[in-house]
Amino acid sequence: MSLYQHDVLIIGSGAAGLTMALQLAPTLKIALLSKSLLDEGSTLYAQGGIAAVLDEDDSIESHVQDTISAGGGLCDENVVRFAVENAKSSIENLINAGVQFSHTEPSNPDSPLHLTREGGHSNRRVIHAADATGKAIETTLNEQVRSRDNIEIFENHIAIDLITTSKLDSDDKNRVIGAYILDRLNDQIHTFKAPHVVLATGGGSKVYLYTSNPDISTGDGIAMAWRAGCRVANMEFNQFHPTCLYHSQAKSFLITEAVRGEGGKLLLPNMEPFMSNFDSREELAPRDIVARAIDHEMKRLGVEHLYLDISFKDADFIKKHFPMVHSKLMKFGIDITKEPIPVVPAAHYTCGGITTDTSGKTDIDGLYAIGEVAHTGLHGANRMASNSLLECLVFATSAANEINQSPQQQLSNIKIPPWDESRVTDSDEEVVVSHNWDELRRFMWDYVGIVRTTKRLERAQRRIELLQHEIAEYYSNFRISNNLLELRNLAQVAELIIHSALQRRESRGLHYTLDHPDLLDKAENTILKP
Ligand code: FAD
Ligand code: SIN
Repeated sequence: MSLYQHDVLIIGSGAAGLTMALQLAPTLKIALLSKSLLDEGSTLYAQGGIAAVLDEDDSIESHVQDTISAGGGLCDENVVRFAVENAKSSIENLINAGVQFSHTEPSNPDSPLHLTREGGHSNRRVIHAADATGKAIETTLNEQVRSRDNIEIFENHIAIDLITTSKLDSDDKNRVIGAYILDRLNDQIHTFKAPHVVLATGGGSKVYLYTSNPDISTGDGIAMAWRAGCRVANMEFNQFHPTCLYHSQAKSFLITEAVRGEGGKLLLPNMEPFMSNFDSREELAPRDIVARAIDHEMKRLGVEHLYLDISFKDADFIKKHFPMVHSKLMKFGIDITKEPIPVVPAAHYTCGGITTDTSGKTDIDGLYAIGEVAHTGLHGANRMASNSLLECLVFATSAANEINQSPQQQLSNIKIPPWDESRVTDSDEEVVVSHNWDELRRFMWDYVGIVRTTKRLERAQRRIELLQHEIAEYYSNFRISNNLLELRNLAQVAELIIHSALQRRESRGLHYTLDHPDLLDKAENTILKP
């Protein structure tokens, strides 16, 4: 077991964590952690792009109003303005770092950036790298962090829990001083000490059986912050993306909303379009509306998927705009230039999260949360497409500024005890962990999905209480493993979602319940305190 000391411990290496690490590296010593490989996370798989006002006919006001309208009355307008106003400089930072975005003339890098369109946006304002925007960002920023002397990278290191002075029975004002970390490759638990700790751990959509997210999205940051005493907000608003590929061999493959932005139509099994029956914006209505419409039609017709069709467009246009989706689907025997794509909705994005201000500060001194793990107030009850990468970039920058300007804390007089394994043994029943993983994700899908009822939520609540109890017992008796840590965090996130959903007695944005189908007059956040 080792003790590592840095100025800043950044847990997570997606768009948020990498952006922050690069901004702090000139002055501070950073530990950058990833529980998997450095590039693995939702950022790597982002397709559509990043929203920013770059077109002459567009305006900051229009982006602000579209975000607020998609957010179902719950966005914090000041936060929305802050994000939208800082979007252009965030894109410029990425271009300066070397990210290659698509241009209107592919072979002319001096031509304007190509802007695509997605649901909820009233203008073309989505900057992208064809249909693999996240890969372009993640790989470019990865190269940059690997070349900085001040950034020490720890791959396959999973944070277990935060260490705060209150846990050490100190009389000082409660502040974070580090975290216990499991090295997944050799099962060693290390202590990382730092006066600033940043949670950039992404979302928790893996709590649902069907998701567009990679395996790392287990809500670890939200669960750790909650256990440490931070408030968590609006967890009932888990976003379902309308169009994930339906195919027996495909795991979590998204079909970007930009396909609809460039004219793609949603079709019933008889090849009839149907979105005009639900919203005048049709395929480009905000995501909550489109996902609910698909869910409604699937249930009405008793079918397992619907279709998304772009094959009526010129084949060269399709291959130029969606090269990654085209080649991936060809591997499954689907030629999108010739036939419609079978699609279903799947859990995609955690709109709620750890309560922060615009500098990423949480309720605990020294602890910051940035990116999908945070609840800044930007997304309200439903995130508008391509505002998430934007949030990662803008708030990573403002949190980095805050850390750079804050006086350096000395922690040398604080002794942190090493992780205590003296009272645990090796698990003799790993099957319990894998069984609970499956059970949890299935009942969340069945009872806490796109359409909810109080009865289903109460059913889920009873099950989560039982699971939490079993997991706590297991956790205190057996040596920890990666799967157990993630299960414990997923169960915590599930509990927060269910609790928040039961508390909201109306249907707003992504939270739709048959027992309270109407909107209340006053829009209020659901804020939970540990
Ligand atoms: P992530 O990129 O998810 O990174 C999380 C990091 O935290 C990883 O490095 C992980 O290893 C690490 N981590 C987690 N827990 C721990 C732990 N306990 N210990 C150590 N490390 C840990 N948004 C858009 O705006 N535009 C898009 O086009 C878009 N497309 C998307 C497509 C897909 C398929 C998906 C899944 C999401 C998409 N989104 C998009 C959403 C967006 O990609 C994510 O919200 C965003 O990338 C999150 O970035 P992040 O830095 O917060 O977290
Ligand atoms: C997509 O490309 O459809 C995903 C965009 C997003 O989640 O913002």
